[in-house]
Parts: sequence; structure tokens; C-alpha cells
Amino acid sequence: MDRIRKAVFPVAGLGTRFLPATKASPKEMLPVVDKPLIQYAVEEAVAAGCDQLIFITGRSKRAIADHFDVSYELEKELEKKGKTELLEQVRAILPGYVKAIHLRQPHPLGLGHAVAMAAPVVGDEPFAVLLADDLMLDERPVLAQMMDLHQRYQSGILGVAEIPREHSTRYGVVEKPSPEAAPSNLGVVGRYILPARIFHFLENAQMGTGQEIQPTDAIAELLGERQMLAYRFVGPDFEEYLRDLCGQFR
Ligand code: UTP
Repeated sequence: MDRIRKAVFPVAGLGTRFLPATKASPKEMLPVVDKPLIQYAVEEAVAAGCDQLIFITGRSKRAIADHFDVSYELEKELEKKGKTELLEQVRAILPGYVKAIHLRQPHPLGLGHAVAMAAPVVGDEPFAVLLADDLMLDERPVLAQMMDLHQRYQSGILGVAEIPREHSTRYGVVEKPSPEAAPSNLGVVGRYILPARIFHFLENAQMGTGQEIQPTDAIAELLGERQMLAYRFVGPDFEEYLRDLCGQFR
């Protein structure tokens, strides 16, 4: 089976939970240590072998396209001042062989709707979806771990992780429960490997909670047809990892 080359980044959400930080700038551009969230997700996808990145953007999201574009004036200025190391860093944001495609989601009709917008570009191949606001750090990128599983079982893969039981209503949870009734504490985190067939179900999906189309229902329908696996991600201690990362900048 061919490797997965296309990664979809739905970044058109309104980010209301982070207001006022996200009033005029995208949630995905919020920095963690020295780079914006979206850059972590892009690096993860590229490290997992993706070389076609599809951003589903919306209003006030221009900063994302600009971040991954060549900044000619900035590069010239850094070059002139001999700031070679910074110049290298700026140039390395997106390797030259990686192509970025930006599509607009005209109305924020939900994550499922955003993913469906990628259909004409994804075509008939399986593809990855990464939600940049779920920052997932590990020595081996999480998406690469999921790609291994995809290669082995040739099926769609949902990234899941243990979540505090009392937070179960905040996540897409594999079996939707009240916290007390929840059969497990595994929540769907923002990493998916999906077959193109998902588009069929997303396009026919009904509006759900909050007048949005969620991927969960489409995934449930897909399960009627074929196998989908959940990959339980157990990363390193997140706080410790971030502390190490910050330590490099002291
Ligand atoms: P969230 O549920 O986090 O929604 O979306 P949000 O709008 O970003 O944030 P809140 O709830 O208002 O605080 C999950 C992912 O789906 C994308 C978001 O950008 C985020 O990466 N999304 C959501 C879209 O691309 N389009 C949408 O219509 C909704």
C-alpha cells in the first residue's frame, strides 16, 4: 500500500474558548515555547512522511498562510545583517519539497464540514487529519506511530488517549457517556487517519450539537462498513517534556 502523503489541518474554528487571545489572531498561532501550535502539527505531519498539507482556513486566519509562506523581505533583512542562524530557522519552517494548499471554509459549520472541504484535493486516497490545538509531543511523532499501525492493519486509525473522567464531555469520546456512565476514559484526540470513503458520510451528515457537523457520526457509519482502529497514545510526561523544551532557551 502507498504511504499517506496528504495531511489536512482544519484551522477554521472560531476558537471562542481562548477569547480574547483569539479575537483577531488564530488559536493555532498561539505560541508554545518558541513556535506556534500549528508549526508543531506541521512538523509532526512532515516527519510522518506527508508532503501535501491542506489547510482548511477561514476569516482572520491569514496569519497561518503567511507563516508557511516565504517571507522575502524578512529573509533579505536577516541576510543583510548576517543573522545566518535565524535565517536558517525561518527557511526551515516548511521544507521546499512540501506543498501547502489553503482552502476556505466559508461558514464555521463544524470540524466534520471542514474535513469534507478537503475532498476535491484528497481524492481517493487515505489521508491524515491533525488538530493543531491538541499538542502531542513524543520522541517519535504521534502521527508516525499511527502510520505504522495503518501500514500494518490497512485501516483507519483514531488517536485516543486517557483523559480525566470528569472531562469526558469535552472530548469526542469513543462511546458517548455521562462521566459516571462512561465505559472507558479514552477520549478521541486530534489525530486521525481516514479512508476517502469518510467524505461520503460527511457530505450526507446532519447537523449535530451546536449546529455543527462532527466527524463522530460519519466515523460511526464508516464502522458499519469497515474496520477502524483506535491507537492509544501514551506520551511522555507532558509537563516534564515542556520543562525540558523551555530549558533549552534559558
Ligand atoms: P473546536 O471544537 O476546538 O472549535 O474545533 P473551535 O471553533 O476551534 O474552538 P471553540 O470551541 O470556539 O473554542 C476543533 C478543530 O476543528 C476546527 C478548529 O479550527 C479546530 O482545529 N474547526 C472547527 C474548523 O476548521 N471549522 C469549524 O467549523 C469548526
